[in-house]
Amino acid sequence: MQLIQAASLLSFATLSLAFPNGAPRCKITESIISAGHKMAQGSLGLVMQLPTSYTPGGPAIPITVAAANGSAVSFQGMLAYVTPNAVQDSSLTAVPIGTPNVPNAGGAPQHVGTFANIAAQNLRAQTAAICTNQNVTNDNAASTITHAQPLTAQTPFTVMWTPPAANVGPVTVNMVVSSGSSRTPWQIVSSSLIQSTAGPGNPNASAPPSTTAASAATTATTATATTTTAKARKAKKANKANKAKALVAKIAGALKGGR
Ligand SMILES: *[C@@H]1O[C@H](CO)[C@@H](O)[C@H](O)[C@H]1NC(C)=O
Ligand SMILES: *[C@@H]1O[C@H](CO)[C@@H](O)[C@H](O)[C@H]1NC(C)=O
Ligand SMILES: *[C@@H]1O[C@H](CO)[C@@H](O)[C@H](O)[C@H]1NC(C)=O
Repeated sequence: MQLIQAASLLSFATLSLAFPNGAPRCKITESIISAGHKMAQGSLGLVMQLPTSYTPGGPAIPITVAAANGSAVSFQGMLAYVTPNAVQDSSLTAVPIGTPNVPNAGGAPQHVGTFANIAAQNLRAQTAAICTNQNVTNDNAASTITHAQPLTAQTPFTVMWTPPAANVGPVTVNMVVSSGSSRTPWQIVSSSLIQSTAGPGNPNASAPPSTTAASAATTATTATATTTTAKARKAKKANKANKAKALVAKIAGALKGGR
């Protein structure tokens, strides 16, 4: 076990979800986790159990991951966050940033609410710089959480999530669970929607208005739009998508080289 983790630390330090002291990412991207784990996503047979609603500014609610057949499944790693979105973030992170007509392509910019009492479960807030680097705005430090050390956890496993004070409408829980380090099964656990007792709300309501990456991006886009032709914008987007592809290829190459 220790050897496997040491090897993982050397070769996959920037990629592996099951890096002993937490996932190195702020968003769940299936292709990147697959590369880091050297294993395609395989079902651990996990399901999520959620209350049907939250109350803005109200009490924490339980988010439980359990085996569909009720058995105790052991796991070591986790990355989790809640987005004001009707879709799983992993389906958005599968689409390159800037893809036309796909709102939040590349992943939702905002992670809402905060996970409570996580230290007692050997979980921790994701490192702020890791989230900033992926253009994620966290409502609170513990809006995005990961394992602080290899967990000795078993299903059913419950984390408590405190909703934001602002009404952000329906939210989706995004969670990936890993049974170990490289070449061990992992699963993005599907979530149903948690409705807000205050109604549809504004998905952006909890974002600090002047400091979010999203509003900075909007400002930049608006400024550029006034001086750029539609053709140039299209080329720019294509360039962005190509850059994303090149980066993925580069990471895959680096992994092969480092083996
Ligand atoms: C229950 O599901 C787990 C995977 O989640 C599997 O490992 C286990 O063998 C299953 N148990 C039974 C009794 O089917
Ligand atoms: C972050 O936002 C900047 C500015 O909009 C953009 O150029 C960059 O590609 C984004 N990076 C990620 C990882 O989202
Ligand atoms: C939320 O923010 C995004 C990006 O800044 C914007 O496109 C969208 O219209 C906003 N939604 C609402 C309901 O204000």
